[in-house]
Amino acid sequence: MKNIYLDHGATSFPKAPGVADAVYKYMTEVGANVSRGTYAQAISAASVVLETRELLMKLFNFNYGSEYVVFTPGVTFGINQILRGYVHPGDHVIVSSLEHNAVMRPLVDMEREGVTFARIPANEDGITDPKDIEPMITENTSLMVICHASNVCGTIFPLREAAEVCRRHHIPLVVDASQTAGHYPIDFEELGLAALCVPGHKGLLGPQGIGATLFGPGFAAAVTPLVMGGTGSFSDSEEMPDCLPDKFESGTMNLPGIYGLHAALEYTLSETVEKRRQHEMELTRKFIDGLLDAHVRICGTKDMDKRVGVVSLDFEYDDNSQAAYYLDSDYGIRTRTGMHCAPNAHKTIGTFPQGTVRFSFGYGTTEEDVEYAVRAVREVAE
Ligand SMILES: Cc1ncc(COP(=O)(O)O)c(C=O)c1O
Repeated sequence: MKNIYLDHGATSFPKAPGVADAVYKYMTEVGANVSRGTYAQAISAASVVLETRELLMKLFNFNYGSEYVVFTPGVTFGINQILRGYVHPGDHVIVSSLEHNAVMRPLVDMEREGVTFARIPANEDGITDPKDIEPMITENTSLMVICHASNVCGTIFPLREAAEVCRRHHIPLVVDASQTAGHYPIDFEELGLAALCVPGHKGLLGPQGIGATLFGPGFAAAVTPLVMGGTGSFSDSEEMPDCLPDKFESGTMNLPGIYGLHAALEYTLSETVEKRRQHEMELTRKFIDGLLDAHVRICGTKDMDKRVGVVSLDFEYDDNSQAAYYLDSDYGIRTRTGMHCAPNAHKTIGTFPQGTVRFSFGYGTTEEDVEYAVRAVREVAE
């Protein structure tokens, strides 16, 4: 039986060429910590760390300086760091209707401390009308956090328009790029973002457990660190350093992850995000076109310019979890089923509580994979 991985929205597989070798090289040949030793291996590891920050700067057109590129374990950590370190009781936060629990769970928890939030409405396809963004602002609005593309239906948020509103009202804009980094071009400078949170293990094709937050300098200065501890710098003081990236990078770094991410970023930059997007959107078009008359509801917009290659299906005659089980057991197609950690996204697009079967395409997905998946879905849906 075939074995087709269509769960790139959860994590990419296979990883980019060179990633596993780079992790292995670090583990077997380098091994040293950074900012803690002055021997050759420590210096060579430090230069890979710096280069990785620089590769992220290049990918996202980020020009403030490599010190403002902060490594994190992933987007969940990055978002928590910002919400907990920037938002205070009495503050109001604006989010999209399609946020992941990485944003919603800390925010809902912070409601108990007197933080309020509002969701910008979206329609059944997950599309937000840019006109609905500005009226959400109140005099207490201190932050806007937006999921760039939904991990449930793939619909892209009108980020340029949100950035313009934020600029006019001097509200920092933070972007969760979990489903767009490496899949869709992102220009930090053009958007004038306060922060961009990216995972290393999804569209960037790196290992799990490593990601980054790119901070605008003014915003970085206003965020209190979530975690404090040793940085290998200013070790004569028991106070947390204020300088970047040390302020946000306490503890031993995930160096195997950074080595892997370095290789993944080199590959992504050489391949180009534009080329990858073209490939993924051709596959997405083919998948959606192949299912237009099948017994499934295709969630999210059908306008390819306004979506990424994450497509959720709601089976008309089948329980969705059962359908995903058949796809796996009878066809060898790996998808993800359920709520995808974004309950309000399902409420918005009308798939709560049944959830959906999510197909997500990546750089390694082929046309044949998609043709096979279309045939399988049609058979299961009958
Ligand atoms: C939209 C979105 N935000 C946040 C996350 C959390 O990312 P991570 O698990 O890498 O921290 C995900 C992961 O699925 C996601 O899809």
